[in-house]
Amino acid sequence: MTALEYIKQVPKAELHLHIEGSFEPELMFEIAQRNKIEIPYATIEDVNKAYQFSNLQDFLDIYYAGANVLIHEQDFYDLTMAYFKQCAKENVLHAEIMFDPQTHTKRGVEFSTVINGIQRAREEAEKEFGISSLLIMSYLRHLSEEDAFETLQQSLPYKHLIKAVGLDSSEKGNPPSKFQRVFEASIKEGYVPVAHAGEEGPAEYIYEALDLLKIARIDHGNNCLTDPKLVERLVQEKIGLTVCPLSNTALRNVDHIDNHPLKKMLDLGLKVTVNSDDPAYFGGYLTQNYISCIEALDLSLQEVKQLVRHSFEYSFLSEQDKEKFL
Ligand code: ADE
Ligand code: ZN
Repeated sequence: MTALEYIKQVPKAELHLHIEGSFEPELMFEIAQRNKIEIPYATIEDVNKAYQFSNLQDFLDIYYAGANVLIHEQDFYDLTMAYFKQCAKENVLHAEIMFDPQTHTKRGVEFSTVINGIQRAREEAEKEFGISSLLIMSYLRHLSEEDAFETLQQSLPYKHLIKAVGLDSSEKGNPPSKFQRVFEASIKEGYVPVAHAGEEGPAEYIYEALDLLKIARIDHGNNCLTDPKLVERLVQEKIGLTVCPLSNTALRNVDHIDNHPLKKMLDLGLKVTVNSDDPAYFGGYLTQNYISCIEALDLSLQEVKQLVRHSFEYSFLSEQDKEKFL
């Protein structure tokens, strides 16, 4: 069997997916229309023109604007269900889904509206497609620590539905240290900590995420490659890295997929996984991320099997649930 044949059918897990980043233009148009909200695109062609990014901030500005049309519980359900339907097509059997409550509560949408819509889709996906999922509540790092504390408070009635807390949005100038106290408090509440680090920011931010936020997994982490000592530590401590190849090229953190460091990271012994990040914006869901890497980096069947294995091993499933997939 070739690596390409293998990846198309094998059961796999996705560990880095922003649900707001799976918002396809067609669904955005539909929800905008029923909620009577203006969006700056008349056609799919306009959308494609707008989705040309030169860095993370460029993308974030458009991503937050897109999320503005999400108002009602049904909108969050539709958004999440569309992602699960894609998972079912690709045999993604486990997904760890990030959501950004502040993107919505800042606009006056209740925390409960967001999570109830997502939760209803999760339950249906489990029942209909046999897809398991976990939720990662991400704090927006361009906002204040106080704001993150407020979000933590809002989440507490729904603690049983949320596995982990994350840190996303504009990385440069917003180091993990800014959120040390809210992560401490989140861990006390029982949340598992993760954080985006080393996507655009320096290796120093990865050290901070490890030492100050006590993270259990790093989102992206590519920039660890500038620091051999850090690489050694990540290997030794078996820290999972959720790498997002098509995101990295779309946001110009990597100039071309042929130069993506995924294979190098694997060769160094880093615990890398493949993920889609914001697939509606970056041109591919999970399987396409694998396919692009297999083709560009000439990954072997063995290497792809290892990446898929990592996707379950470094998930937050219980050891017992992992056994079902490994
Ligand atoms: N929010 C959504 N996608 C993101 C990314 N790739 N980096 C930081 N924040 C994000
Ligand atoms: Zn991300």
